[in-house]
Amino acid sequence: MERSYWERIAPNYNEEIFDVLQNDTSGKIVGAIEQIASKEKTVTDLGCAIGKWIPLLATAFKHVVATDISAINLDIAKEKCKAYPNVEYQRMDMSAGAITVIPCDVAVCINAILTDNLKKRINFFQSLNICINSGGHLILVVPSLESKLYTNIIAHRWNVDDDHKEKIESADKAYALAKNIKQGVTDIDNIPTKHYLEEELQLLLTLEGFEVERIEKINYTWKTEFTNPPKWLAEPYPWDWMVVAQKSPL
Ligand SMILES: C[S@@+](CC[C@H](N)C(=O)[O-])C[C@H]1O[C@@H](n2cnc3c(N)ncnc32)[C@H](O)[C@@H]1O
Repeated sequence: MERSYWERIAPNYNEEIFDVLQNDTSGKIVGAIEQIASKEKTVTDLGCAIGKWIPLLATAFKHVVATDISAINLDIAKEKCKAYPNVEYQRMDMSAGAITVIPCDVAVCINAILTDNLKKRINFFQSLNICINSGGHLILVVPSLESKLYTNIIAHRWNVDDDHKEKIESADKAYALAKNIKQGVTDIDNIPTKHYLEEELQLLLTLEGFEVERIEKINYTWKTEFTNPPKWLAEPYPWDWMVVAQKSPL
């Protein structure tokens, strides 16, 4: 997942990319943001894409720094969010070795740390710390590996959607899939995408200087995984992980 991938997707973003804000019908992410928001605080939206979260953030915080690696995404966000004068747009690669930023009181990072490249993920997690003031908060949402495996097991056991119609065209592809899954990297729409374990998130954030306050499931309907979910298929529903963490005070 290079910058070029996100630039290419940008013009058709709504058709191509899962909308977390719309699909979180529990409102847990909005609730978590509102709980720590204040007109005295600044917030950065890391991986803001076309700015779906900006209206909420701009209304609840003093100032918003909308950050993304994609210039096209940022242009779309800017155009859509003209009504919010307290938003500043910043093109930045959070996976770059060293970043220079003015830290904010809060960072929101929703399904942005998806790269299959370990070095880029390490850098992104380090950048999270740099972007937040000491004592400030992080709200992080990422795909769940547990949920993905649970979905795969159901698909295979009950042949749902013809077992997800997975095609493994070559020995190279089979090797890549096997190697990736050991690292929690598994395809979404044929794109190798990092998925996370709950314990892994706890460890990663603790080692980056955060105190994890809570990790919660953000549940979606089975329609987000299967075209034809079996009628009997109910809870637990597929989920992403949401982490609320505080950067340790100095
Ligand atoms: C799946 S979208 C999520 C968008 C948004 N947070 C939302 O929930 O609607 C991921 C976004 O992260 C951005 N992104 C990916 N890698 C990045 C990086 N290294 N630095 C900054 N932004 C990045 C992409 O350009 C894309 O806009």
